[in-house]
Amino acid sequence: ASTLGEAAAESGRYFGAAVAANHLGESQYVTVLNREFTSVTPENEMKWDATEPSRGSFSFGNADRIVNHAQSQGMKIRGHTLVWHSQLPGWVSGLWGDDLRSAMNNHITQVMGHYRGKIHSWDVVNEAFEDGGSGARRQSVFQQRLGDGYIEEAFRTARAADPNAKLCYNDYNIDDANAAKTRAVYNMVRDFKARGVPIDCVGLQSHFNSQSPVPSNYQQNIEQFAALGVDVQITELDIEGSGTAQAENYRRVVQACMAVSRCTGITVWGIPDHYSWRASGTPLLFDSNYNKKPAYYAVLEALGGS
Ligand code: G3I
Repeated sequence: ASTLGEAAAESGRYFGAAVAANHLGESQYVTVLNREFTSVTPENEMKWDATEPSRGSFSFGNADRIVNHAQSQGMKIRGHTLVWHSQLPGWVSGLWGDDLRSAMNNHITQVMGHYRGKIHSWDVVNEAFEDGGSGARRQSVFQQRLGDGYIEEAFRTARAADPNAKLCYNDYNIDDANAAKTRAVYNMVRDFKARGVPIDCVGLQSHFNSQSPVPSNYQQNIEQFAALGVDVQITELDIEGSGTAQAENYRRVVQACMAVSRCTGITVWGIPDHYSWRASGTPLLFDSNYNKKPAYYAVLEALGGS
């Protein structure tokens, strides 16, 4: 196999990219997207501020453009994301109690309903835990006003809205098997599985740089989540750096996923470096002229391609 998507497919995995609707008219971008990737994640277009900017009024235009493109190419689609403290329209923060609860459930039901049958996995809840050593829940409006139960409620609502989509909890800095934040997410997933709360996957965002490098126990971390009976997806992979050092870090991440059968796919968070959310960085697999970087070849090899 000579592309990322084909190489990943040989082991039954997908290889995806975060995609922005406003680049779909660019021929080089689309050429590389269509050639290399078998899954897409809308980078911003399915977030709450984009899909329900005012209460009860839904706008799916940009997300639909990505979904239509992906479907025309036979690509899978990851849904990102339903319940998140960021990119949340202001009106949500004005709600309390049962009013907030019903707005959350309605948002999940409407957005998942619009795409029912088209999304292979949804990030139902994103980034609900604090950084640092506390292992505490992030004090979002949902946490503060609905309490711990909001995550479970979101997953139950999501299961009803699209029973065939895999339901994921997605977060960053949960890549180190022993970190407090990882342990907190692990304990939540274990509890959900024990009590029959519907959850199918954990998304490891895996944004790495020199301050947060690829942990030495990254594969062990994937294994410990998989052992709970959920799939693991690497959902937003990017690694700062360049040249051989960057390539070897990418290789390690992909090898770790390949070693665990329940690690079912990898998504990189953008295609060429200049469209990365890390404005001044070079964390992706293609340079700003769409040339393949050493990291690209390391990933292709680790997937079993050449
Ligand atoms: O759409 C507006 C545009 O109208 C305006 O002129 C422009 C001026 O700033 O902003 C545009 O919105 C920006 C949006 O990206 C679309 O480009 C926002 O300011 C900007 O904050 C937003 O950044 C996104 C970020 O999430 C927001 O939190 C990044 O593109 C996106 O890559 C990033 O993705 C997140 C994942 O969703 C969750 N995990 C972390 C990851 C990286 O931060």
